[in-house]
Amino acid sequence: MERPSSEVIQENRDYTLFSWSVQSTSNPIHMTHAQGVWFWDGDGNKWLDFSSQLININVGHQHPKVLEAIKKQVDELCFAGPSFATEPRGKLGKKLAEVTGLAKSFFTLGGAEANENAMKMARLFTGRDKIITRYRSYHGATMGSMTASGDPRRWPVEPGIPGIVRVFDPYCYRCPFGKTPDSCRRECVSHIEEVIQMEGPHTIAAILVEGITGSNGLLVPPDDYYPKLRALCDKYGILLITDEVMSGFGRTGKWLSTQHYGVKPDIVTCAKGLTSGYMPLGAVIVSQEIADYFEKNMLWGGLTYSGHPVSCAAAVANLSVYEEEHLFENTEVQGRYLAERLEAMKRKYACVGDVRYKGLFSVLELVRDKATKEPLAPFNGTSPEMQKLAGHVKSKHVYAFSRFNMLWVCPPLVINQEELEHGLSVIEEGLALVDQMLGTPVAAD
Ligand SMILES: Cc1ncc(COP(=O)(O)O)c(C=O)c1O
Repeated sequence: MERPSSEVIQENRDYTLFSWSVQSTSNPIHMTHAQGVWFWDGDGNKWLDFSSQLININVGHQHPKVLEAIKKQVDELCFAGPSFATEPRGKLGKKLAEVTGLAKSFFTLGGAEANENAMKMARLFTGRDKIITRYRSYHGATMGSMTASGDPRRWPVEPGIPGIVRVFDPYCYRCPFGKTPDSCRRECVSHIEEVIQMEGPHTIAAILVEGITGSNGLLVPPDDYYPKLRALCDKYGILLITDEVMSGFGRTGKWLSTQHYGVKPDIVTCAKGLTSGYMPLGAVIVSQEIADYFEKNMLWGGLTYSGHPVSCAAAVANLSVYEEEHLFENTEVQGRYLAERLEAMKRKYACVGDVRYKGLFSVLELVRDKATKEPLAPFNGTSPEMQKLAGHVKSKHVYAFSRFNMLWVCPPLVINQEELEHGLSVIEEGLALVDQMLGTPVAAD
């Protein structure tokens, strides 16, 4: 007989530590099985996974083609050290070169390690030390990647590693330069040039930015942001590193989110959607020029599990699922519907200040007052209203990620309109409850 969920949860809580939480307040769901966009808990409840777990399980849960590839690789060869050549490793490297237009991949176990290695490679290649990053960013929880992040999760590890310089973000809803789309002259890029001047262009190895910022507010940049940033990097011989850990692999309807803007970075880091989370894997994908450099110069880096055959086999299968099942096309179609629905919510509910989206990568930003834009919860904090919204969504067994004054909608790319609508209607019920708490009646459609 299966053990009761309460026992499983208790054992987890007694003997394991949960991330980013005061342990006594952690309240895990006991997940027992899953399929597509759904998972089940130990009490038999069926949940809609509206955040693809950690915005990574892009092909949905338990996809048979990925499972089969993993099983086949396990039977054939479970492990080979990182200095060995294997079939899945080579195949994956070739595929990544094809879909990104870059040259070679160095494999890691996840996103944080990918960013650590990307920063190291940039420093080796340029002979410069500093890395420019943005305040509203998350690059991973290891020491270097955490320091590179602007996210408040970096505060406990400060001062972190030396050489990180942070700049402001293309956050149009709350422009740090006080501009509106009409008055804006892309100060979000031009101030980076000023920072470069002040720091000394010869000291800066790279600008590291999330393709589209994820867990710090889903900040979709203006269309000309990336071309301008690319030009700035070229002007000063600075590498452009884009962290596509969250925004890559179909999340926005393309392999890389920067492909929407027609630019090619020098280095791309990725993880999450690379295997859809079925096996741990990250990658640093570098340009031909950087790959050529390491033909003659030492690559000072390595990991026991770099190029793990089972992870690489899972990734190869996962990437072919995107293509064979036309998941990026589905992302575009469902993404259009999602965008319409989010815009309608913004019109209808007083608490919805802004909605931002690209493909199936989206967020609602909540406010107390649309005119003043006062956030519904403070930066790095929460509020009774946000708890009400998150609590309502959870009570209806929709699993959606919320943080500060934002709620994300990032379902697996296999979602259909009916499933999407189910989750959105639950969110709408929650928004109506928040408007009631704020005393702002819901406007008619
Ligand atoms: C943009 C971005 N970069 C890096 C990471 C870190 O990846 P990992 O948790 O696999 O180390 C994350 C994780 O959420 C992320 O969202």
